[in-house]
Amino acid sequence: MTCRTTLAVILATAAAVTGGARAHDEPIVIKLSHVVAEDTPKGRAAALFKRRAEELTSGRVRVEVHANGSLYRDRDEIEALLLGAVQMLAPSLSKLAPLGAREFEVFDLPFVFADEAALRKVTDGPVGRRLLRRLEPTGILGLAYWDGGFKSFSANTPLRALEDFRGLRMRIQPSAVLGAQMRALGALPHVSGFSEARDALAAGVVDGTENPIANFYTQRMHEVQTHLSLTRHGYLGYAVIVNARFWRALPSRVRGQLERALAEATVYANRMAREVEEEDLRKIVAAGTTRVHTPTPAERLALKKALLRVHAEMEGRVGRSLLRDVYVATEFTPDAP
Ligand code: LMR
Repeated sequence: MTCRTTLAVILATAAAVTGGARAHDEPIVIKLSHVVAEDTPKGRAAALFKRRAEELTSGRVRVEVHANGSLYRDRDEIEALLLGAVQMLAPSLSKLAPLGAREFEVFDLPFVFADEAALRKVTDGPVGRRLLRRLEPTGILGLAYWDGGFKSFSANTPLRALEDFRGLRMRIQPSAVLGAQMRALGALPHVSGFSEARDALAAGVVDGTENPIANFYTQRMHEVQTHLSLTRHGYLGYAVIVNARFWRALPSRVRGQLERALAEATVYANRMAREVEEEDLRKIVAAGTTRVHTPTPAERLALKKALLRVHAEMEGRVGRSLLRDVYVATEFTPDAP
């Protein structure tokens, strides 16, 4: 150890000791890491949570939001939460299976939610709450669901009919259900982290992908994908999760204030998922680099029929009774476009 380093260590230790003496005046820091851009629904909701948490606690809590995977990429962020290196995350529901909670992949089933109202029956109802409780044995508390939006397919060739997908290499999130979905289309699923997805498209490592419009636009995928088909065939949402030990150790008044900030951010996230989709779609059209196709009801139904077998294939993985509960809650109808 050089003299300089020794001095730095001593100064740091001294600061820590002094800090310890003042511990209860120091703000409680919540590091909230996520992988998307700041102007996505998740990015905006994280910013609102920060603002409201700091206001409601009169500065007792400081929230540090790290966007764009700048602190942790999606492969590492859950481990960081478990280790206490961050206190809050909002990963996609498709990325929770490594915690032993494969049931969350029920949200990945193609065409399982006819619309936002059907989705809300699950996220705001007993099924959604039961799912969040599944995380508790891992040391994580699931506090809320935030919408990212409904996903659409893109590629460098038109995607109107089933045969258009045959042989395409499609980037997916790490979910067995999404893999099965791409195979049911005759495509080849390719798992990659979110931060690598745009580069993989640009380099031709993959031919296409699926995204909510906000992620597609903010990652500038419209510059490297000539066709976007507004299939809205699947849902991408997030679970706002915290390190359980950290959360339970908070003073109860502070925890209540944070819960209120989170409830406000949740309403906002879901509104943003609707509004930002429209806004970003207009920008994609204006950029003129991507042809946007709106499937006819017949095209959508054909796609849905081809993909419904994924539900049967994956019911063993997500759980038969869970799938049944989701069907009941959403009044799932296989024949409607
Ligand atoms: C993805 O990997 O496509 C998404 O999970 C990214 C995100 O957080 O919206």
